[in-house]
Amino acid sequence: LARVLLRKVYKMNLKQLIKTLSIEEKIGQLMQLAPFFFKKDSKVEVIGSVRHLDLDEDEIFLAGSVLGIGNREEMISIQKKYLEKSRHKIPLVFMADIIHGYESIFPIPLALACSFNPSLVEQASKVSALEAQTAGIHVTFAPMADVSRDPRWGRVMESFGEDPYLASLMSAATVKGFQGSDISKVGHLASCVKHFAAYGAIEAGRDYNTVEMSMHQFYNVYAPPYEAAIKAGSHLAMMAFNTFNGIPCTVHDTLIQNILKDEMHFKGLIITDYDGLQQVVAHGVAENRKEAAYQGIKAGIDIEMMSTTYIKHLKALVEEGRVDIKIIDDAVMRVLELKRKLGLFEDPYKGASSLDRNKIVMCESHLELTKKIAHECAVLLKNDGLLPIDKEVKLALIGPYANNQQTNGAWSWHGDTRKNKTLAEAFIKQQNKVVFYKNGHHISDYHEDDIKEISKADIVILCLGEYERETGEAKSKTKLNLPRGQETLLELAKLLNKKTITILFNGRPLVLNEMITSNAILETWFLGSRAADAIVDLLNGSVNPSGKLAMTFIQNEGQIPLYYNHLNTGRPYRDEYNEYVSKYLDVSNEPEFCFGHGLSYANFIYQSMDLDDNFSNNYQVKVQIKNDSKFAGYEVVQLYIKDNVSRPVRPIKELKAFQKVWFEANETKTIIFELHQSDLLYKNEKGKPFLEAGFFTISIGGSSQTKLSKQVYCKEEIDDYSK
Ligand code: NOJ
Repeated sequence: LARVLLRKVYKMNLKQLIKTLSIEEKIGQLMQLAPFFFKKDSKVEVIGSVRHLDLDEDEIFLAGSVLGIGNREEMISIQKKYLEKSRHKIPLVFMADIIHGYESIFPIPLALACSFNPSLVEQASKVSALEAQTAGIHVTFAPMADVSRDPRWGRVMESFGEDPYLASLMSAATVKGFQGSDISKVGHLASCVKHFAAYGAIEAGRDYNTVEMSMHQFYNVYAPPYEAAIKAGSHLAMMAFNTFNGIPCTVHDTLIQNILKDEMHFKGLIITDYDGLQQVVAHGVAENRKEAAYQGIKAGIDIEMMSTTYIKHLKALVEEGRVDIKIIDDAVMRVLELKRKLGLFEDPYKGASSLDRNKIVMCESHLELTKKIAHECAVLLKNDGLLPIDKEVKLALIGPYANNQQTNGAWSWHGDTRKNKTLAEAFIKQQNKVVFYKNGHHISDYHEDDIKEISKADIVILCLGEYERETGEAKSKTKLNLPRGQETLLELAKLLNKKTITILFNGRPLVLNEMITSNAILETWFLGSRAADAIVDLLNGSVNPSGKLAMTFIQNEGQIPLYYNHLNTGRPYRDEYNEYVSKYLDVSNEPEFCFGHGLSYANFIYQSMDLDDNFSNNYQVKVQIKNDSKFAGYEVVQLYIKDNVSRPVRPIKELKAFQKVWFEANETKTIIFELHQSDLLYKNEKGKPFLEAGFFTISIGGSSQTKLSKQVYCKEEIDDYSK
């Protein structure tokens, strides 16, 4: 009977449907609650401020959407109970954070960005969508399009790094992968781009903190990835926790109305972050929750996630004549539209009822894909020739990740690390000669007997890093060196006169200190379900590393923020004898490893660059590169521009194109980039693109410290590109 009713509802015009709803039912559609509200028996799970939401059963069953869901059975039982109780029979939409996998876990987003391969990100998202839909999840809170230049912020692991161009491509690829061509199809999810806006620029990298920035910085650096996700069709957008130039984003009418809706043409649904509307009171911008509800609905918030200012106060605000019911109707319309587009009126259990979980979730092809992608995300930071490892060489593995399965990364709540292999297991499986392995953080964790065994090895592999759960939300740090005394393990290896390979597991660029003297360093971030196999493939050389850093590695915390695309000063650093220049007394301006850096076992020589003196549309840049080695592999060829003279001042380099190219051993190739006028544009503080005639520098290389460069003249002039 419920199904018949639903079909009837679906056929009805949504406007008609809204007319049949009471004001309480309308406002209910704008409330999102976690599953435990619907299952009384699991109420114990309620934590933090939500304990005081104070909702009665009738109010709960007015909700329009659910945040997070345990599994297929839970989804089906909640939807069923809801539809039985509900008068209007509008199904719930289930939303969740499917960030880098459902049960087959892919590398964390920061690692994915290091692949410089958006098509892999699209494939990972497609697989994640399919797996998540087996549990009846319909919307994912991804991509996180927040550019970040501050490794103190724990959430850089969820970001695509510091560069607006790279993050834009990755954000768009994520949307395409999750949504496919049509979100009504089984196996596809709707995307929710987040966190609008500029959450990655919070002061001092302390989570939830303030953001103050110039508008030309916003338009040129922070806005592009959100815009790219919107252009790719993201159906939802989430507002950020932070204030933006004085107003909490959740109630920032200029951000929502003028920028998101008018300038970026976003037509989808806008949701707060977790209890975001209530937080407006804590920010000191609303006196109480009623005023928060007022500011939220006026600013353009459709769904309130996990707080109850709407359900408790919107009705009164309408009755008092402060809020026009039409605004609420419009918001409800967007919720219903999303449900219709997702096909929920036809099948409220979408995916959970029709997909065969056993055949899909963690199937071999998905796990293989996690490994293939992991291969491209690890970054070889240093290699003095010790890598790849000869299989005959005796290895000792020490450090907390020597024999540890926790390689999934922080946003993998459905992933089961017990199914992962450890590094020691993966080495042994590949028949490397492992003479010793034992987890430990500090030199004192290794006793005399251990040291005897370690001495038998030719190479000590230091498997170091952060715990998964010390990265991600609310995991900001001020000290970015390896925690818990792990640097002492390098001393141990040196005392024993051993060569070392350092393998890093972490969610943010770290300060390496003395670790930099290790013979080889492989940055693996958290690579997911098949991390260990992928790492051993790279170390043994059956796969050649090709990842490049999506975020700068600093020398010490005092340099933060340090990023490649900075502006110049009037006194740029020139040489060490010049005192009054922009520099520190105690550390150089250089990063430890720059954006775009990443080694290969191959040796790529950038031989020559061929381009016209005058820039025109469909402008070609040809680069000749030689692989001067016996190793075949990928190189990420990166093209940067600099506008030599500009007002406002522009960055010293801006990534505008890259290609990931396969080279056979000893192969020479000519790579062609095609540039357009739009690649040279910059935006003013009103967000209008412009271009000034003059010289540009085009430079090319395998990192942001480029190898070849040439000046070109562009005579085009654009005042306001949008005219
Ligand atoms: C808070 C986080 O900021 C956001 O990214 C996430 O999507 C929501 N919680 C829901 O889990």
